[in-house]
Amino acid sequence: MDAKTEELRAAHDVLAELYAERLAGALDRMPIDQAVLGLFCDLTLAAGLGSTVADIGCGTGRLVPYLAARGLSPQGFDLSPEMIRVARRDHPGFRFDVADVRDLPLPDAALAGLVCWYSLMFLAPASRPAAFRELARVVKPGGYLVTAFKAGDSRLRRGGHSTGLGVEFDVYWLSPAEMERQVTSAGFATAFWGGRPAEGGEGSPQGYLLAVKAS
Ligand SMILES: C[S@@+](CC[C@H](N)C(=O)[O-])C[C@H]1O[C@@H](n2cnc3c(N)ncnc32)[C@H](O)[C@@H]1O
Repeated sequence: MDAKTEELRAAHDVLAELYAERLAGALDRMPIDQAVLGLFCDLTLAAGLGSTVADIGCGTGRLVPYLAARGLSPQGFDLSPEMIRVARRDHPGFRFDVADVRDLPLPDAALAGLVCWYSLMFLAPASRPAAFRELARVVKPGGYLVTAFKAGDSRLRRGGHSTGLGVEFDVYWLSPAEMERQVTSAGFATAFWGGRPAEGGEGSPQGYLLAVKAS
């Protein structure tokens, strides 16, 4: 594992309990996130490719119960072993495993869909094409990918320090155009994109992209 990935993983190990506390119930107060995830669930089920989906960069697993309630069979993967420990503790009915988005322990075309909620914005420009190709590899043709991200100018920032927990890592607030370029270069076609202004202390607008893998 390279030094940047090690730094990112170690930071999220430290952040896991804070995330669990801060984000508990957050989705209930976020109708736009619910609507985008709900659209993903509906389109995925309507595609008739089964209900098996993965939440990549699942963190503490907070989205998985929502996906299951909408009829999907989700499992979670995350780079951080601590995030996975907390996800297993807080959502014992679901499967969670440690994995990097660039090397997923899944066969080709294993999934009907993929969720990447604020988990693709840590990828350095050079590693993005391989990561998006890996996402495309594990989805069936006609299956869906949905992602949420902090939207911005795509330049490198250092994140984590605002938590006060002594962690830092590289993060990119991606432009919607860059996100769409990566997704379409990997063989997906855009089905929906959108965004909303920053709320409260968010610091950036939020971007959403839903794409379908070419049949
Ligand atoms: C901002 S958190 C979002 C967590 C979760 N998706 C949510 O919305 O609550 C980003 C998560 O992505 C994970 N992550 C970052 N880079 C990753 C990678 N290359 N592979 C897998 N997970 C990654 C981090 O460990 C962290 O748990």
